[in-house]
Amino acid sequence: MRVTCTVNGKQQVVDDVWEGESLLYLLRERVGLPGSKNACEQGACGSCTVYLDDLPTCACLVAAGQVQGREIRTVEGLADGDQLGPIQEAFVECGAIQCGFCTPGMVMQAHDLLERVDNPSDTQIREALAGNLCRCTGYEKILDAVRLAASRRAGSIATSPRPVSL
Ligand code: FES
Ligand code: FES
Repeated sequence: MRVTCTVNGKQQVVDDVWEGESLLYLLRERVGLPGSKNACEQGACGSCTVYLDDLPTCACLVAAGQVQGREIRTVEGLADGDQLGPIQEAFVECGAIQCGFCTPGMVMQAHDLLERVDNPSDTQIREALAGNLCRCTGYEKILDAVRLAASRRAGSIATSPRPVSL
């Protein structure tokens, strides 16, 4: 079947989509956007999180045929060309990335949280990221990154939570 959808503001027409194909496969293998990661393919880890019509969604759980006519935004769509978005920058600055497999999903969920909540508490950050697993267990630095992005977004003077050694 043919699927037509909008990805990061650009219309995509994808032919020969098979019935069992996931949105994640479509994005990575057909549209050429490998940012969303395939870690569990069961909706358990959150590494494949994308916006589907503005709602964070596990792309591995959505059939490609279901996105006909819909809008998708991936982690690549949070950057402006080569310029990382503020949350992506915060992850880099805080050293919140180890293997990087969970990072796209974490960044997407953090983005959604900061769109909804100006100055989230630690509890709100933890709740927002509760569905995203980091096998490298770098959770503290991930929390630091979200705090940093939130404080910058709020316009306050942000200080790096702690020195980062990479
Ligand atoms: S790959 Fe989709 S939730 Fe893990
Ligand atoms: S950085 Fe490796 S899974 Fe999170």
